[in-house]
Amino acid sequence: MITRTIIEPFRIKVVEPLRFTTREHRVDALAAAGWNLFGLKADDVLIDLLTDSGTGAMSSEQWAALMRGDESYAGSRSFERFEAVVRDLTGYDHVIPVHQGRAAERILFTEVVTPGSIVPNNTHFDTTRANVEHEGAVALDLLCPEGRDLALDAPFKGNVDIEALEQLLAQRGERVPLVLVTLTNNSGGGQPVSLENLRAVRRVCDTYGKPLILDAARFAENAWFVHEREPGQADRTPRAIAEEQFRLADGCMISLKKDGFGNIGGLLAVNDSELAARCRNVLILTEGFPTYGGLAGRDLDALAQGLLEVTDPDYLRYRARSAAYLAEKAWAAGVPTVMPPGGHAVYLDAKALLPHIPPHELPAQALAAELYLEGGVRGVEIGTLMFGRAVAGQADTPAPNELVRLALPRRVYTQSHVDYVGEVIAHVGANADRLRGFRIVDQPQWLRHFTARLEPLS
Ligand code: F0G
Repeated sequence: MITRTIIEPFRIKVVEPLRFTTREHRVDALAAAGWNLFGLKADDVLIDLLTDSGTGAMSSEQWAALMRGDESYAGSRSFERFEAVVRDLTGYDHVIPVHQGRAAERILFTEVVTPGSIVPNNTHFDTTRANVEHEGAVALDLLCPEGRDLALDAPFKGNVDIEALEQLLAQRGERVPLVLVTLTNNSGGGQPVSLENLRAVRRVCDTYGKPLILDAARFAENAWFVHEREPGQADRTPRAIAEEQFRLADGCMISLKKDGFGNIGGLLAVNDSELAARCRNVLILTEGFPTYGGLAGRDLDALAQGLLEVTDPDYLRYRARSAAYLAEKAWAAGVPTVMPPGGHAVYLDAKALLPHIPPHELPAQALAAELYLEGGVRGVEIGTLMFGRAVAGQADTPAPNELVRLALPRRVYTQSHVDYVGEVIAHVGANADRLRGFRIVDQPQWLRHFTARLEPLS
């Protein structure tokens, strides 16, 4: 029998109740949070699509692994297991655990990035960009032209613009300490990078003698898309593709809160022994001893198990299908999304849906807020609130896109949850012309979207 339904490839052993609230309650809750969805209490959210980070469900084998955790301060067995799994997957010699991805960014950039450096990437994730800029350097996005066209349906819109990278290295190469590639390209819509493109980046890095480091938070989802979309890759397993991705680079930073299936954790792995030694010294200063790096032994064991599970083709097929299914609901309701849907999320295009709200009035924030007010669904703004710049006395410089990301936590929600989210999107989409923008009343210097306070415009 051929079936269309891709069922969740697990059954449920532990359940966590959801709390239903009214629209009136949510209006009060969001107002109290300064109209910032990050300020809400989780109890006031029904379906939480704020992030896919750290919010996944662990498998029974991962829970079992927690019990095996060895909490020895130095030389723990959990670290040995973690290191062996990571080495086997990535091929890198030096594996440095950290508490989450941005700690790897800070440690690596502290060592290799200096004021005036230029760090290219397909698209920097917000913490990556902030950590580069924090060193006084320039975070340069060199996304391929297809990737910048939101509505274009192309297979590898996360690819690096090879010509632009080559030009950068030829003209200002002395200022470039390393080349980054983000798999999948989160800020560009969760779009994958092809192996062909990664090989081309490798060649350019070799020509100019630059190290290539992957930001590989979603390496397994990237491998799945390569398996599905790249000519000649259909017969290879996602695991084999993932292994090749890592071996094309000199190291990686991974937030293991995504494809590590962990609630917390990250890693930095490199082949360069001298660089690894310097990074371990910074690690000891701020994260902890090199065999735990800010994590409990049990975390390392659960992550090691997660890294073995995440490349399972049944899981990855279900994962990609869940996002596509949600996107189909949005399209059916006439709400445009970034095309094609990403691996971990669907990105609603607020600029297209809300042409009456100009960028400095934060249209994506208006859409994100309304999804919450209408249905208790929490997404995240990826637009001018996140990436715009405050200029004293003027309207903010707008971000290139105004998106609302609905990120799917791993193995958490079922098809009926996604059906419900689809209904909320349809309702909000039908009333889009009634939405109004927002004004920022208070904001910090760095990563303002997390803590800014806003006010609705009447
Ligand atoms: N790189 C990418 C591509 C990411 O998506 C993230 C986190 C990080 C680095 C930083 O890792 O959170 O463990 O410190 N992304 C989350 C998200 C927060 O919601 O997309 P972290």
